[in-house]
Amino acid sequence: MLQFATYLARAAGKKTLNHFRKKVEVERKGDDSPVTVADREAEEWIRGRIEEQYPDHGIVGEEFGTHNEASSIRWIIDPIDGTLSFIHGIPLYTTLIGVTVDGEPEIGVIYAPATDELCEAAIGLGARYNGQDCRVSETSLMRKAVLLSTDMTTIISEGLEPAFRVLLDECRLHRTWGDAYGHMMVATGRADIMFDPVLNIWDAAALLPILQESGGVFLDFAGHAAIDSGHGFSTNEKLATVVLSAMDSVR
Ligand code: IPD
Ligand code: CA
Ligand code: CA
Repeated sequence: MLQFATYLARAAGKKTLNHFRKKVEVERKGDDSPVTVADREAEEWIRGRIEEQYPDHGIVGEEFGTHNEASSIRWIIDPIDGTLSFIHGIPLYTTLIGVTVDGEPEIGVIYAPATDELCEAAIGLGARYNGQDCRVSETSLMRKAVLLSTDMTTIISEGLEPAFRVLLDECRLHRTWGDAYGHMMVATGRADIMFDPVLNIWDAAALLPILQESGGVFLDFAGHAAIDSGHGFSTNEKLATVVLSAMDSVR
């Protein structure tokens, strides 16, 4: 199933390149978030392949909802994570595939089509980045840490600025190399913390197995390893306590 998930993410991700940096119409969904033909095409293609291969499995996708809701195995899809990056021609968008079994995240794949980077993991099978084992950083001091977020706007609107300010004041560098790309940077030791105040299940499902299997953590702001809390952060075990204690300022 991990092999199949990597095939799906890579092939669907490559399809999005047909529309990348081209004139593509941007529509607004009910929640005012943007969507394009590339998001829809990629998700439709992935769903079709899963339905052929595993007709009894469940599917949850950002653009086309839930299929086979009662199934204990669920494929959770975000065809383009970082639609805003995609729309603006920034190559840091990704295709995400997660698999849960009885609600537990077991498989995760992040594929960045424009940079051809693939990060994959299954619980107990390790994590790999472009075919090589990958690992989170060993940074333990905030003054040496690279801190990532997608933007400041959501941090402020979610009332998390006081907590994030503690991290910002202490870190070596803050950059908005965000969305799932930021979590992949943490899983590969290229950044130390990715802070994500608003996450749907399709944003988070692929992340947890990848971070755990690369020796790190993906936690919600209460410190639970969960994909359905609506928010989360990735880091190594040493810095996890620093992030959680920063969160005390908004509890
Ligand atoms: C967004 C990204 C981002 C998260 C947002 C999502 P999209 O996804 O996952 O990291 O903070 O809440 O909407 O819309 O680009 O797939
Ligand atoms: Ca997303
Ligand atoms: Ca998306």
